[in-house]
Amino acid sequence: MTNIAVIGSQWGDEGKGKIVDVLSESARIKAIVRYQGGNNAGHTVVVGKVKHAFHLLPSGILHSGKTVVIGNGVIINPEVLLDELLALQSRVGSRHARILISDKAHLIMPWHLIRDGITGGVIGTTNRGIGPTYTDYIARRGIRFLDTTSKKRFSERVHAELLWNKSLIKHEISFNHLSPHARSTLKLRSTLNENSLINRYWKLLNLLKKYPKLSVTDVSSFLDHLQSRGQSILFEGAQATLLDIAHGTYPYVTSSNPTIGGIFIGSGFRPRNLKVIGVAKAYTTRVGHGPFPTELTDKTGDRLRALGNEYGTTTGRPRRCGWLDLTIIKYAKLINGLDSLAVTKLDVLSGIPRLRLAVAYRFGSKTFDTFNPDLNTLSRAKVIYEDLPGWQADLTKIKKFTSLPPQAKSYLHKIERFTGLPVNYVSVGPRRDQIIIR
Ligand code: IMP
Repeated sequence: MTNIAVIGSQWGDEGKGKIVDVLSESARIKAIVRYQGGNNAGHTVVVGKVKHAFHLLPSGILHSGKTVVIGNGVIINPEVLLDELLALQSRVGSRHARILISDKAHLIMPWHLIRDGITGGVIGTTNRGIGPTYTDYIARRGIRFLDTTSKKRFSERVHAELLWNKSLIKHEISFNHLSPHARSTLKLRSTLNENSLINRYWKLLNLLKKYPKLSVTDVSSFLDHLQSRGQSILFEGAQATLLDIAHGTYPYVTSSNPTIGGIFIGSGFRPRNLKVIGVAKAYTTRVGHGPFPTELTDKTGDRLRALGNEYGTTTGRPRRCGWLDLTIIKYAKLINGLDSLAVTKLDVLSGIPRLRLAVAYRFGSKTFDTFNPDLNTLSRAKVIYEDLPGWQADLTKIKKFTSLPPQAKSYLHKIERFTGLPVNYVSVGPRRDQIIIR
């Protein structure tokens, strides 16, 4: 029995959803688990001509006969989850996996959206209430599914938190210089009417709980049961290593732990027999503010954005694009104990005559081939590149590693040599079948 974790190696949007979807096909995998984040994530899976975009549901959802799990570390906006389920139902009916939601998962409440609107601008958050919801989680003020077992209990929790949040929001408004966006967020204050909020959420929660093939339960017991029977579990990370609150480019990070430790905290899975696959895009992107040493603000960056369709699945924001930074992938290996890599979007690099890869950083007279996520360090560092020749051929129909142009093979070999990790999957297009498995 081997369990698998799929973790982003860069700043997110590496194409983890597709890799999870492909791996989920294996008969050995019984459950696919999300363990952190919320609807700040966006995974796209293309099956035939149909594009499925998921924000909260694990990408394995399309595999009927499996179970997808939303762990206790995931934060849930019930309205978004219900919309996502209804959209899925309209596309595939009930031909999707069974869904288990942890009863310990926290709810994103309307006040979290307002607070994110006021304070998230400096980071460039997705504005989905993520930071404030995790803040309340740690501050022991969160509302969990466990608080929704009776309307009375739920109403009491909302009443208490609403009082606190109204006062907090007043302070946050007077303390922060509000951007036009933040000001428009304040319109949401009308959603803070206690009775209508309770009734609206209660209705949504009941619709969710009655959704076919869905249960709210203790997911760690379920995972324990699978582990005891020797069945395999797949963990699907959202966001990525450099967006991790502990190991990323703090404070320009999300508020959860997408890295390996997040799995154990966010699902209750006991660490046994776990293979870790790092997903790395063949170049680098990031959304939101914060350092990005290999960023390209020229025509090549625009080309990557256009050909790679580098616009956020969640917010539609254009992603910042740049060269592949090998030191980042090595850092992701160090933090997550990666065993292998899946390299995605290699096809997007076709037609670029010379490809640059960051292999080290120089600080004064010293050179390091390791990545340091500290902002101050990064701002003083000079990137050292190694150049490789590009290739012209279209890769999107290639099925075998041996059929890749020699320059593309050299590019992948360079990644392998630098990181000491085998590249076992190469994605050459958005569709499920556009993948080379070695
Ligand atoms: P938050 O997660 O909405 O609080 O945003 C914090 C930072 O993480 C911002 O820079 C976001 O752009 C970034 N971020 C959050 N989720 C994703 C994702 O799924 N892909 C890429 N960036 C993300």
